[in-house]
Amino acid sequence: MNILLIGAGGREHALAWKLAQSPRCTALWASPGNPGIAEVIAAHGQGDCVSLVLTDHAAVEVFCKAQDIGLVVVGPEAPLVDGLGDSLRAAGIAVFGPGKVAAQLEGSKGFTKDMCARAGIPTAGYVRAKSAAEAHAALADFSLPVVIKADGLAAGKGVVIPQTAEEAAATVDDMFGGAFGGAGAEVVIEEFLEGEEVSLFAITDGSTIVAFGSAQDHKRVGEGDTGPNTGGMGAYSPAPVLTPELEARAMAEIIAPTVKAMAEARMPYSGVLFAGLMLMQEGPKLIEYNCRLGDPECQVLMMRLESDLVDLLDACARGELAGAAAPSLSSESAITVVMAAKGYPGTPASGGLIENLAAAEAQGAKVFHAGTALSGEGALVAKGGRVLNVTATGQTLREARERAYTAVADIRFDDGFWRRDIGWRELARQSD
Ligand code: AMP
Ligand code: GLY
Repeated sequence: MNILLIGAGGREHALAWKLAQSPRCTALWASPGNPGIAEVIAAHGQGDCVSLVLTDHAAVEVFCKAQDIGLVVVGPEAPLVDGLGDSLRAAGIAVFGPGKVAAQLEGSKGFTKDMCARAGIPTAGYVRAKSAAEAHAALADFSLPVVIKADGLAAGKGVVIPQTAEEAAATVDDMFGGAFGGAGAEVVIEEFLEGEEVSLFAITDGSTIVAFGSAQDHKRVGEGDTGPNTGGMGAYSPAPVLTPELEARAMAEIIAPTVKAMAEARMPYSGVLFAGLMLMQEGPKLIEYNCRLGDPECQVLMMRLESDLVDLLDACARGELAGAAAPSLSSESAITVVMAAKGYPGTPASGGLIENLAAAEAQGAKVFHAGTALSGEGALVAKGGRVLNVTATGQTLREARERAYTAVADIRFDDGFWRRDIGWRELARQSD
C-alpha cells in the first residue's frame, strides 16, 4: 500500500521510521517531511518528500489519486481541525485521524468541557465566556490560582494560570483583545487542579477502543520544570505513575465515555485520543484532549511499538479495529531528550551546524529530526525551535536515560541546549 504522511517534525520522523518497517508499506510519501524523513524514504526505496499545500484539499486529493495512496496518516492537529480528513474520505481515501467536527475535542476547549459535562467525565469545573464582560463576571466564582484558556488552537500557548485577581482580569482583557487571535474570541475559565500530569493514548475507530500506552512530557523549558512552557522538552514511556489500576479507571471513566458521547452526538471520533490527565486523590481527571499523537510523546511510543503500525492505523482508518490485533508495546522504557536551538521557546537561533549524528546512533540511540534542514553545501543545520529528539530504550528508565544522554554528548550542536533531567520525577520516585 502507498502511504502519505502529513507533517514535518520529530513525531512524523518517528512515524515514518515505523511505517517504513511494515511489509505492507510500498511507497512512502511525506508532505512536507524533513531531512530525517527523507533519509527514511531513501532507505525504503520508494516515495519522496513533496510540498503539498495542505489547505488546498483538492490538490492533496489529486496527489493521492495520482500516486494511488491507500492511507493518509495526519501527524499534526491543524489539518485535522481544518477538515482535511473529511475531504479525503469523501474522495474515497482512507485517513488516520478524525474529521473536522470530531477534531473539536482539540480545536475547542469549550466543546470538550461541554461534552465532559454531558457524559459525566471527571474534569475541572468550568465556565465558557463569549465576551470580556461575561468572563470578568465569571471570575468571581473561582478561587486563585485560576486557569484561563483561549477556546481555539493557540499552538500550545493559550493557557494562562493567573495567581492574582488583577492578573486574571488582565488575562481576560488580553485574550478578548486578540492576544491569541481568533482562538481567544471565546475563553474557558477553569478550576485549578493540583496533582501530577500524565498522558494516556488510545486508538479508536469510533466504537472499538485500544489502549496505546502512557507517557510523561516535560513542558517547561528549564530543569526542575521551571521557565516558560514549550511544546515539550523530552518524554518517557511508560509512565509508571499511571498504574494499571489508574489506567483502567481513565479508560473506563474518561476515554470510553468520550467515544460513546461522540458517537451518540453523531460525531464519531476516529484516530488517536491523546488525553492529558491530572492524577488527583479521587482519581484521574481530564485536563485536555489532543486529536493526534504527542510530540515528543510519539517518539517514545514508536520506540516501544513491536507490532505493525500500518496494520493498526489502516484498521483504525477503515473502522475495522474490532477485527485487528491489539497493538503490542514492549515492556522496556523509552526516553527522548529534545535538543533545542538557543532562544527557544522565544526566537530560536536558526542555521546552527549539527554534526556526529551517526556516532550518536552507533551507541544504540535513535535520533529523530524535529527541526532540521540541509544547507546549500549539504550540511545539516537547525531550522526551528525543537531540533533533534535523541531517543533510546532500556530495561529500566535509568538505563534508557543513560543511553540517550550518552548519545546527546556525542552530538555536536553548538547553538543548541537541552534539559539534563528528563525523567526526573519517575527517577526520584524510584530512588525513594
Ligand atoms: P492544555 O493546553 O489544556 O494542556 O494546558 C496546558 C497546561 O496547563 C497543562 O499541561 C497543565 O499543566 C496546565 N493546566 C491546564 N488546565 C489546568 C487545570 N485545570 N488545572 C491545573 N493546571 C492546568
Ligand atoms: N508534547 C505535548 C503535545 O504534543 O501536545
